[in-house]
Amino acid sequence: MVTARHVLIVGQGYVGLPLAMRAVETGHDVVGLDVDGARVAGLMAGSSHVADVTDDEVRAAVAGGRYRATDDPASLDPFDVAVITVPTPLADGVPDLGHIDDAAEVIGPLVRPGCLVVLESTTYPGTTDERLAPMLDAQSGLKAGIDFHVGYSPERLDPGNNEWTFTRTPKVVSGLTPESLTAVRGFYDALVDRTVPVSTTRVAELTKLLENTFRHVNIALVNELAVHARALDIDVWEAIEAAGTKPFGFTQFWPGPGVGGHCLPIDPSYLSWRIERQLGVTSRFVVTANDINSQMPGYVVRRVQQGLNRRRKAVNGSRVLVLGIAYKKNTNDARETPADPIVRGLLELGAEVVVHDDHVGPNQLDLVAERVALTDREVTRADAIVLVTDHDDVDYDLVTQHGRYVFDTRNRLRGDGIELL
Ligand SMILES: NC(=O)c1ccc[n+]([C@@H]2O[C@H](COP(=O)([O-])OP(=O)(O)OC[C@H]3O[C@@H](n4cnc5c(N)ncnc54)[C@H](O)[C@@H]3O)[C@@H](O)[C@H]2O)c1
Repeated sequence: MVTARHVLIVGQGYVGLPLAMRAVETGHDVVGLDVDGARVAGLMAGSSHVADVTDDEVRAAVAGGRYRATDDPASLDPFDVAVITVPTPLADGVPDLGHIDDAAEVIGPLVRPGCLVVLESTTYPGTTDERLAPMLDAQSGLKAGIDFHVGYSPERLDPGNNEWTFTRTPKVVSGLTPESLTAVRGFYDALVDRTVPVSTTRVAELTKLLENTFRHVNIALVNELAVHARALDIDVWEAIEAAGTKPFGFTQFWPGPGVGGHCLPIDPSYLSWRIERQLGVTSRFVVTANDINSQMPGYVVRRVQQGLNRRRKAVNGSRVLVLGIAYKKNTNDARETPADPIVRGLLELGAEVVVHDDHVGPNQLDLVAERVALTDREVTRADAIVLVTDHDDVDYDLVTQHGRYVFDTRNRLRGDGIELL
């Protein structure tokens, strides 16, 4: 157990809340600041909005006096460590660092000599040293890297992954100066099994973008291959399965209905924006991957249209049940989910679309389609069932036995009337 320290975490979402709970667990006193008042009230009432954190954990942390959530910056005291875990979205395709700026404005006046500020939000190389640190300097009247420490440590969270948890997953750490790196390392060494120090904050920022761009590009590769293999009448799933037996030099990625979440549709564009802006050249892999992956929902709609057509049905007037709307299986995360453009595409063609997903609550995704339970009646009524997210706790026997035409974008189902992406 490390000495209890005052930790401020700005942003209590998918990244900030698990970090807060782990910091509490390792003996810190933690305040979680969030601009979302409803989220804060929920947390103080012992309710977690993040699937990987239980209500019991939050309740115990609050009851034990080790954790407090607040939306009031005026209630904050100076801290030993502050971690920024706020969103970094795109606005019209351009990085929007407004949330990081807002966080720096709140943290800056609380900075004291010897404290540590770490940025965890995913962002382009240069953000920590050329944007965050000067803002903190201006707000505090102190000098980052000399009077206080500043670092960057990307998050590698994989929601729903019970093997590679926050604690088990190695964490890349960096600092503005060697002393800052020591401070960042000291903080995270107590939270995770292994830290991986790198020489500059820019290397750490690029590491995160490399990891997500690698995934984005490889998914684009198999997505494009899936489209071509289908046209060639070859089973791409079987080919990828077979290639996966190669013990070296091949990493398995699977095609799907498109990418979603806070990472893949956004992070690679942070990298390409910076490269274009600073070097005046195009990041061709990112552009191509964005292009291919963003076309997958439209491809799914076309395939469903063709499937219905072969059954002498028009999409117009057909009832289509979309199964799964989270962007990722076994999670409630529906941000940037491909289910959204798929539903809209089907509706535009005149389909009567209904959706089923027990993981995603109505306030997590504002879909224009009616939500239904997965019943015999719904399955038999549907002219087409489109499996978009293959959560494990779905009654797939019901779907395969009673579905008339099932389009499976995940290679989950087998049987008559089932078509694969
Ligand atoms: N979700 C993931 O799996 C994941 C993984 C790795 C990295 N990241 C990165 O981590 C960052 C946070 O992502 P997330 O998934 O936790 O987002 P999130 O939307 O789940 O949570 C962010 C929280 O920050 C709050 N917030 C926004 N502005 C704020 C401000 N000025 N002050 C206080 N709170 C503020 C929001 O209300 C929200 O609750 C992003 O940069 C993201 O790319 C996310």
